Amino acid sequence: MPHVVTQSCCSDASCVVACPVNCIHPAPGEPGFATAEMLYVDGAACVDCGACATACPADAIVPHTTLTEAQLPFVALNTEYFEVFPHKDRTPLALVHEQRRLKRSGPFRVAVIGAGPAGLYAADELLKHPEISVDVFDRLPTPYGLVRAGVAPDHQHTKQVEKLFGQIESQPGFRYFLGVEVGKDISHAELTARYHAVLYTVGAASDKRLDIPGDDHAGSLSATDFVGWYNGHPDKQDLAVDLSAEANPSRRVVIVGNGNVALDCARILAEDPTRLESTDIATLPLGQLLTSDVREVVILGRRGPREAAFTVPELVGLAGHPRINVLVDTGDEGFDEGTGDDVKTRLLRDLASRPVDPAKRTVVLRFYASPVAVHGEGKVTGVEVSRNRLVLDEQGVPRAVPTGETEVIETGMVLRAVGYHGLAVADLPYDATRGVVPNERGRVLPGVYVAGWVKRGPTGFIGTNKSDAEETVDRILDDLDAGIIPEPVGTTHGLRGVIRGRQPGMVDLAGWQAIDREERRRGAAVGRPRVKIVDVEEMRQIASGARAPRYASLRRWAGV
Ligand SMILES: Cc1cc2nc3c(=O)[nH]c(=O)nc-3n(C[C@H](O)[C@H](O)[C@H](O)COP(=O)(O)OP(=O)(O)OC[C@H]3O[C@@H](n4cnc5c(N)ncnc54)[C@H](O)[C@@H]3O)c2cc1C
Ligand SMILES: NC(=O)c1ccc[n+]([C@@H]2O[C@H](COP(=O)([O-])OP(=O)(O)OC[C@H]3O[C@@H](n4cnc5c(N)ncnc54)[C@H](OP(=O)(O)O)[C@@H]3O)[C@@H](O)[C@H]2O)c1
Ligand code: SF4
Ligand code: SF4
Repeated sequence: MPHVVTQSCCSDASCVVACPVNCIHPAPGEPGFATAEMLYVDGAACVDCGACATACPADAIVPHTTLTEAQLPFVALNTEYFEVFPHKDRTPLALVHEQRRLKRSGPFRVAVIGAGPAGLYAADELLKHPEISVDVFDRLPTPYGLVRAGVAPDHQHTKQVEKLFGQIESQPGFRYFLGVEVGKDISHAELTARYHAVLYTVGAASDKRLDIPGDDHAGSLSATDFVGWYNGHPDKQDLAVDLSAEANPSRRVVIVGNGNVALDCARILAEDPTRLESTDIATLPLGQLLTSDVREVVILGRRGPREAAFTVPELVGLAGHPRINVLVDTGDEGFDEGTGDDVKTRLLRDLASRPVDPAKRTVVLRFYASPVAVHGEGKVTGVEVSRNRLVLDEQGVPRAVPTGETEVIETGMVLRAVGYHGLAVADLPYDATRGVVPNERGRVLPGVYVAGWVKRGPTGFIGTNKSDAEETVDRILDDLDAGIIPEPVGTTHGLRGVIRGRQPGMVDLAGWQAIDREERRRGAAVGRPRVKIVDVEEMRQIASGARAPRYASLRRWAGV
């Protein structure tokens, strides 16, 4: 088994095109790619050339000889995938697709709103066409969306995808307008008047609610806010988090929902905090975690082990965590004996029989349990939980139904990790139930497009946004070729001046690079990858002294 895909895989498929023997699957276009939790290497076909490891932005593929003990389950995961899906029809060639070319000559200007993965993958795809220039706007002075403000600080391998984003933003034809909020500092109408296409990649900034009594008590927080807090999102630094035993005598945190975000929050709360000192976790949360009295984190899943929303790679990562006990509690329901073939259930069953080390903090994966009320007088003291059983609905989907039995779990802090939710975008249609902008494969109407979470909802990995953005860019190219996008009445000449008049703290590429350098400089001084700056004004000040971006003169010459 020469090379193996491991936990930090974000399914962007960079390795697939690099592999000379086409042994990494599912590949884009193959069944299962869109929903794959990770990709897998066929060890029987791999010739150990290492090309995939070079191409991988997240250091997720490694030679089997370098696997740590905790990573060993990934060997079986890679092998078992090909036992179920042999992909025998594969051609032993590197998959190089012919580059599409625009039929109409430009120049064309595209505004991308949101510098997260979807926005940057889209910009990269658009810039393969020399006729197109791209201006990327973000409301924060720093780019990369949830890669900076969502991905957990103990997942530094995953954050390495920022290096790829750094290459994308340094291409000719790319400009940043950071610290500029579309809908506030510039309107949709002003953008459509200047650009051939406006592409929204604004993500899903809000969270789903529980709507149970007591959900608004102090100590009841959304995971969206908590994640932003520990990751240094400037809007979330005032979050009232108290991890002391005085505030939470039970020393227990309850997390509702068992997706990957719940697992991230649980690891951060249960990890030995001195280990977080070598990550890019924000400074104030690090201080709180270093003095935390929390000993146990209970994750509530309303359905059973098979239905758990966390992915297998993340469960393997938690199960192999050297400093965290993991307990599995399925109550009276136990494990469904018919599910022995299911990898997730098998892993959970193995975990359930492990001994507990009292010296470590503990994460309890509890199943068949829904919160029905948050107890306390203005401040959380417990969560009332209903026990559930599963019943198949008309579509055959297992749904949680309360058995009528309830109990109260004592806690001083509840985190809702029940999913993100997209906000309405000014002047665009909005599906409030799904939290997305209604679209047809990324097209809202000719000239206006969406990609990423605002297009398909809050699911999928960083790399999922690459194929998603490619689909939307195809719609943009189709519409440019068909000549159905109205020619903008204005140009982007002088746009910087207009925006600076309204938002003097606008940050360009050079400004962002100055912030990045300063964060890394502060980090290097204390042995950390970076010390995040969380104050927007401080960021703007650092950015203001920066030199003009590379290729600025080329852009001026090209008139874009
Ligand atoms: C907590 C968490 C952890 C995750 N960890 C991982 C992981 O480890 N591995 C993995 O593969 N995937 C992970 N994911 C999933 C991954 O982060 C998402 O798939 C991805 O970030 C979605 O990309 P996006 O570009 O659609 O949205 P986002 O990343 O949210 O980017 C949207 C951007 O739009 C900007 N914006 C919003 N409104 C405006 C406006 N009006 N004007 C200008 N700018 C605006 C925002 O500031 C933001 O920068 C995680 C997700 C979460 C929530
Ligand atoms: N490391 C990584 O790769 C990583 C890390 C973080 C996030 N992500 C990705 O980002 C996306 C978002 O993750 P997420 O964890 O926010 O969402 P998610 O995967 O959709 O999980 C949401 C969880 O909340 C539960 N839930 C929803 N409503 C509930 C209610 N009213 N009561 C109780 N439980 C409720 C769901 O249960 P049901 O299943 O029963 O509905 C599910 O367990 C996912 O695609 C995830 O994989 C990836
Ligand atoms: S090591 Fe080479 S042959 Fe093996 S999966 Fe990677 S690219 Fe393919
Ligand atoms: S992160 Fe991308 S390149 Fe790396 S293993 Fe996963 S799909 Fe392949």
